[in-house]
Amino acid sequence: MDTVTRFGVSLPDMLLAKFDGYIKRRGYTNRSEALRDLIRDRLVDSSWDSNAAACGVISLFYDHHQRNLQNKLTDIQHDHGNIIISTSHAHVDHRHCLEVIIVRGKAGDIQKLADKLIATKGVLHGKLMKTSSGREV
Ligand code: NI
Repeated sequence: MDTVTRFGVSLPDMLLAKFDGYIKRRGYTNRSEALRDLIRDRLVDSSWDSNAAACGVISLFYDHHQRNLQNKLTDIQHDHGNIIISTSHAHVDHRHCLEVIIVRGKAGDIQKLADKLIATKGVLHGKLMKTSSGREV
């Protein structure tokens, strides 16, 4: 197990009050655990250079009545079968679909695929969630 180092952090009162509100809403029991998670999140994000091995989840929320949209999204996914592990589709209501795509590959390739899917006309909201253990491999 890693050794632990304590260090002091100076924050403006308003920023600390907002941080305390945030950690309370998220259910953290102390500032240290919340701060560790925030730091890990930023480190995972910044470790995503183009050739690094990575994995993540792409979510797409869209209106399936939009002409040709579903076909376009499926075509793009078939062109990237090498990095897509699985896709799950939920019919949210009469109009809307939520698709969740689990991906693994080079960070740059994943980012390009996510950008392409999210920018497809008719996608109402899309997001790439980058993840990793946060440890060097
Ligand atoms: Ni659907």
